[in-house]
Amino acid sequence: METLHINAADRAGKYLELLPQLRGLLVGESDLIANLANTAAAIHQTFGFHWVGFYLVKDSELVLGPFQGPVACTRIGFGKGVCGTAWKENQTQLVPDVDLFPGHIACSSLSRSEIVVPLRNTKAEVIAVLDVDSSLLNDFSEEDRGYLEEICALITQNL
Ligand code: SME
Repeated sequence: METLHINAADRAGKYLELLPQLRGLLVGESDLIANLANTAAAIHQTFGFHWVGFYLVKDSELVLGPFQGPVACTRIGFGKGVCGTAWKENQTQLVPDVDLFPGHIACSSLSRSEIVVPLRNTKAEVIAVLDVDSSLLNDFSEEDRGYLEEICALITQNL
């Protein structure tokens, strides 16, 4: 598949069209970086969010992985910022207003709200996080959490 086809106007409709196409892109490819790269591109292309990307757990830090959007911080410590908190808590972080999140790491002043979803191996250890940043305040809901967690599970199902 070379092109995504998204016709829905609403966000839930877009996720429902994106999921099977993403499944098609990921199935049969075992290389994690290749799959993270296409997933970041697909989410960014579908929704137009400010920044979509992955940080990978490497030793005691998160290190920047495949992403779409402006250049970003390369390393984030355990428990630091929204990404480091998602890693530490092993739980999705939904942040309606980044200015109200203690210790938020401002890679871009345009980011107003964000959601960070952990990716886990079969031992339920966090191996990476998906970070989606929006230039709009309060842009993410439980609906995004559900679909983005489904997308992360899709990526890690063969790991
Ligand atoms: N907002 C993140 C930092 C990463 S970037 O915004 C791409 C955080 O506080 O974890």
